[in-house]
Amino acid sequence: MQQAIAILDSGVGGLTVVKEVMRQLPQEKVIYFGDTARSPYGPRPADEVRTFTKQIVDYLIQFNPKMIVIACNTATAVAIDEIRASVSVPVLGVISPGARAAIKTTRSGVVGVIGTEGTIRSKAYEQALRTISPNIQVYSESCPLLAPFVEKGLFQGDEAFHVVEQSLRPLYGKPIDCLILGCTHYPFLTPVISRVMGPDVTLISSADETAREISTILYHRGMLAASGVTPIHQFFCSGEPELFKRIAQTWLREQISITPVVWQVPNII
Ligand code: DGL
Repeated sequence: MQQAIAILDSGVGGLTVVKEVMRQLPQEKVIYFGDTARSPYGPRPADEVRTFTKQIVDYLIQFNPKMIVIACNTATAVAIDEIRASVSVPVLGVISPGARAAIKTTRSGVVGVIGTEGTIRSKAYEQALRTISPNIQVYSESCPLLAPFVEKGLFQGDEAFHVVEQSLRPLYGKPIDCLILGCTHYPFLTPVISRVMGPDVTLISSADETAREISTILYHRGMLAASGVTPIHQFFCSGEPELFKRIAQTWLREQISITPVVWQVPNII
């Protein structure tokens, strides 16, 4: 059986990474887990996010994946080291790829970052950016309303514009030339964010760079799937499957089937 790339998020956000993986690596099978029953992760304490992430990884590992991608910035920020230490397959997060993409893009060396409260509080982007470029200037802003908004399947229209505008207001007038979408839910809102920030600010999604890194890692380990195979992807979610399915099919532009998962361990909500 074809070994899959396991990708996880608190909800639908990681589908932005899945879409790029499907585009760049069409022969690879994806197993996706969206923890929609416990989304959003952003306001939760770091320990709780670590527990949830570990639980999802334990669930996914039964499918014998060749790689695990934590397609959630909030979980990457607090759990990636622990997950790496607990499994024998490569584990990739989304923060380093996002930071690298921003460094490649910025001309002014002044970068904006938006993310969940958890991601912004962790300062993981500042660290990742300064590890590459010590003098970079970073303006960070948490946008707690945006991921829950996307989870409702609302990515456009007046309401979306209003919520995005309100969330990004603290960044107005800051001399940034690129803005890292430091939450995998935010690329769903790209047209609206772009309209609000204007043409001089380039939006950075970690999805492309993450997919490229997946490809590099699999290539160097001799683990890329043979071309010519049409993979059958699998999608799991812990919450209401119909809404998840509708959002996923709209975003991925393909028909998918969802397997609902009911956690057998106590939920901390
Ligand atoms: N998509 C997630 C992230 O990248 C989490 C959003 C949330 O659950 O708050 O951080």
